Amino acid sequence: MAADPPSAQVEIEQQLLREPFNAALRSRYAQVLLETLQPEAALAQAELLCSQSVQDAPAHVLAARALQAMAQPEAALARYLRAGTLPGFVPDARLQSLLERAQSTATEAPRLQLVGSSARADVRAIQQVSADKVRFSSIVGMEDLKKTIRLKIIEPYLNPGLFARFRMQSGGGILLFGPPGCGKTMLARAVANECNAAFLSVGISDVLNMWMGESERNLAAMFDKARASAPTVLFFDELDALAFSRSKAATSSARTVVNEFLAQLDGMGRDNRGVLILAATNMPWDVDGAMKRPGRFSRQIFVPPPDAAARERMLQIKLTGVPVSAGLDLSAIARRAEHFSGADIDGLIEIAKECALEASLAGGERGVDPDDFAAAFDRMQPSSLDWLRTVRNVVKYAGDDGTYKDVERYLRQVRML
Ligand SMILES: Nc1ncnc2c1ncn2[C@@H]1O[C@H](COP(=O)(O)OP(=O)(O)OP(=O)(O)O)[C@@H](O)[C@H]1O
Ligand SMILES: [Mg+2]
Repeated sequence: MAADPPSAQVEIEQQLLREPFNAALRSRYAQVLLETLQPEAALAQAELLCSQSVQDAPAHVLAARALQAMAQPEAALARYLRAGTLPGFVPDARLQSLLERAQSTATEAPRLQLVGSSARADVRAIQQVSADKVRFSSIVGMEDLKKTIRLKIIEPYLNPGLFARFRMQSGGGILLFGPPGCGKTMLARAVANECNAAFLSVGISDVLNMWMGESERNLAAMFDKARASAPTVLFFDELDALAFSRSKAATSSARTVVNEFLAQLDGMGRDNRGVLILAATNMPWDVDGAMKRPGRFSRQIFVPPPDAAARERMLQIKLTGVPVSAGLDLSAIARRAEHFSGADIDGLIEIAKECALEASLAGGERGVDPDDFAAAFDRMQPSSLDWLRTVRNVVKYAGDDGTYKDVERYLRQVRML
């Protein structure tokens, strides 16, 4: 990249820092990057736009143009074809000529006919792709949280130069905490996908059991592997298990693992720029204080249970394609599902579907109806309630160091404090 970015670019970058979700601005940014011969950077921006809205035809066209500039005509073409199936598609002269050339030699004529028509199968395929590959757009709700993560984690990672110019810190790991089943693991995966990074997930409790003998060496090897496959998101699930083992550890070997872990973490900011470290826990209060020092997991993010609007949206999305009766009021179900986690809602839907299926087998096919959900509610308890009660005590008796500020706000919102 050129040593001095053009002033138009710097100006947009500054604005983007303030408005990371301004799609028009980001699109202009991608154009500028394209025009100044930075196709890889332009592609990264176009991908961000696409992930913010899968249906954004111009963003897919931008991605296609970037791919074309990167001398990847096939990928460019595939992308352009996809754009052609989306609303708001406007043909692009350069890509159109690429397409015409391909069409004249193509053996796959039917696929190339898609441009300009709204081929349903292809649209479904796109949704499939985004479902397989968790992105921010597949995570329901948490809009503020996604914005914070975008600004504090993804942007610095995708564009370290920009953040260096603003002298912002991006080192250290990030700890996601919150009740079970509310999307921590999903978020970590989505961050990896948004960063176009590899995802390496480590279950700490497995690690400890497995590595009793030569644990530190193996832990170091895990970090090495992450560095070697950089860019990588290295994700430590159940971080509390590690803290637990340290505070209660009888053996010195478990303590050495923790020390090695801390040493690796400390090394990260200095010489391992391509590795982003995330961790998750249900029990942040069990995580050792040493873990939370600056440069380690100093940034902690509360991942709350979904609110009523998010629950309703989840129900809508997860019931797509499932036959439902006309009387089914998703908003009422969402309201009744207070304190249900995302995983609980998956469970609720599964039970309701089973009930409907059973009824259909017994006496003629019918869709999922309110009675099925009533039966499902009888069999399901909201799993985040226990967690919220526990955390309420922690908040009440914890010192006022700001760690649980967001949790406190949430508890007030749901009238538990
Ligand atoms: N915001 C969300 N949007 C869509 N689905 C969600 C959301 N949150 C949770 N889910 C559903 O719940 C499932 C469990 O989520 P996930 O594994 O990310 O939770 P977690 O917070 O990591 O839980 P645990 O603490 O038990 O590890 C997901 O696979 C998904 O189906
Ligand atoms: Mg998890």
